[in-house]
Amino acid sequence: MGDSPSSLETGTLKRASGRARHAAIIMDGNGRWAKKRALPRAIGHQRGVEAVRRLVRGIAPMELDCLTLYAFSSENWKRSETEVDDLMNLMRKFIKSDLPEFVANDVQLKIIGDWRSLAPDIVVMLEDALAQTANGSRKLAVALNYGGQNEITRAAVKAAEQGVITTESIAANLDTADLPPLDLLIRTSGEIRLSNFLLWQAAYAEMLFVDTLWPDFKPEHLERALDDFAQRERRYGGR
Ligand code: FPP
Repeated sequence: MGDSPSSLETGTLKRASGRARHAAIIMDGNGRWAKKRALPRAIGHQRGVEAVRRLVRGIAPMELDCLTLYAFSSENWKRSETEVDDLMNLMRKFIKSDLPEFVANDVQLKIIGDWRSLAPDIVVMLEDALAQTANGSRKLAVALNYGGQNEITRAAVKAAEQGVITTESIAANLDTADLPPLDLLIRTSGEIRLSNFLLWQAAYAEMLFVDTLWPDFKPEHLERALDDFAQRERRYGGR
């Protein structure tokens, strides 16, 4: 931290950001990765899960307190039944196979989104995974059946029921209320949009759009993104 030379010269209070505590990723490009290789989309998603696994294994030295991943949006139901089934089955397999590793590696699983309306067996599996990882110190938040507008609406309704509607009371009712503030939002595959992800939380987050397709994304890419973040100046609307 500390003032950059340019801010000392101009007498303003610009500061480099320091390390990010919370990064989130819109994991995009599985389908295009598969298409480029004339493979079925399902293989692209499988390789996407491998990229997730690699990343979760690789974050230990990055000093991130929280990594949030957009795994299934509330709009993804519009995909073909086969693709939705593939994604749900990958989720089942991923939780089953990687849960012991989360526990061993001090990872605390968090789920955001309207996940309780997923298939009952997935809900049970996730509840068990949440309970088993509750004491982990590094958070991995997975967005499932997630839509940012829906999250804000649900939070506003709860705040209204509690009788206080303020920025703080809505924030306190978001699915992310117990996660650190979002520092950095990354999207892969060259698309430049938020697709209803973390709309509230992105208010002051830095954004990074990279061309890499998600299955090719490696821990080094995240490391580079975090280095890039550390160089940025955040002003939160000030000068
Ligand atoms: C976007 O690729 C990706 C998704 C819709 C889902 C992301 C899911 C995974 C990485 C696998 C499941 C995750 C876990 C944690 C088990 P796309 O299909 O939109 O790609 P395209 O835009 O190239 O078609």
